[in-house]
Amino acid sequence: MQYSMRMKAKEVEATLQVAQKVDGFKIFLVILYAVSLAIYAYFVYQGLDFYRTTAMERPHHEAYRTLRPAGFVGHGFGIIGTLMMLFMLLYSVRKRTRIFGEWGSLSRWLDIHIYFGIMGPLFIILHTAFKVQGLVAVSFWSMIAVATSGVLGRFLYQQIPRNRMGGELTLKDINKLNEQFTEQLQEELNLNEDQLIRLQEYPAFLVDPNQSIFKLFLMLFLQDWFKPFFRFRIKRRLSRVFHLKGKHLKNATEIALKKMVLQRRLLALDRVESFFHYWHVLHKPFAILMYVIMIIHVGVAVWLGYTWVF
Ligand code: HEM
Repeated sequence: MQYSMRMKAKEVEATLQVAQKVDGFKIFLVILYAVSLAIYAYFVYQGLDFYRTTAMERPHHEAYRTLRPAGFVGHGFGIIGTLMMLFMLLYSVRKRTRIFGEWGSLSRWLDIHIYFGIMGPLFIILHTAFKVQGLVAVSFWSMIAVATSGVLGRFLYQQIPRNRMGGELTLKDINKLNEQFTEQLQEELNLNEDQLIRLQEYPAFLVDPNQSIFKLFLMLFLQDWFKPFFRFRIKRRLSRVFHLKGKHLKNATEIALKKMVLQRRLLALDRVESFFHYWHVLHKPFAILMYVIMIIHVGVAVWLGYTWVF
């Protein structure tokens, strides 16, 4: 029975992404962000004096030759930013084609999409030297709109229960998972029907799917943000009511928390999914507009002879 419990726990953990375990990929991402942002901060600091000048003063600044968009360093920022914006599209390739097969889960590819979606625009901002004019300004502001709206998209994406590969779970799968959690809790806590009902009635998370969309999202956001606090409350209750201790208490708390998160996501699912659909409808056209003007901009620059070191 111990073995079958462990197998179930493993399956479930892989299926619903609310696990608290830190994996190697997440550590790699944190290091990647820290190093990239430190490098970025260094470049901003180095050019701060130039970036703070007005358009009239710029040509007379000593850094003008290197930091202007066509300068050696400024142009380099543009190339790095553009490459990042292109690498970001690998997510769509992985999601929509079989070129990469089943290599890596879709949610990890999305994490990489987000990394390039944040760092790419940041390098493009350095390339513009904080001044944008002309047609390319449309591409620039579309880029900013897509990147900032991405934060909302990421939040919505997270609210939809997914399997280990990042695919959406069907309603049937969600219910099955919920049953698995219940069985696990029953085994872990050795509960009778009455006790199980009492445990399930405990309202750790509160969402009303009929409240305004703003309030609903705010509740979901806050409850995700304060998850450690909810974990603490559930743990305290399990310890007081069921007198659990040590490893049992830890296991039961994790299962109960996952079950409650799943139930809350199920409650809000219809509204989250329909909002996510509209979000896609906005996110994609801005992205397409941005890429089209970006291609024209790069094409004209190369045609005019701005080929950097090539
Ligand atoms: C300028 C930067 C960005 C561009 C051009 C861009 C472009 C795109 C495109 C074209 C898609 C559709 C992918 C597809 O379904 O094939 C997409 C999806 C998405 N992006 Fe971005 N993105 C950018 C930045 C970001 C950022 C910064 C975030 C998060 C903070 C983000 C989060 C997402 C999410 C959550 C999806 C939906 C994934 C899905 O439903 O499969 N994006 N993005």
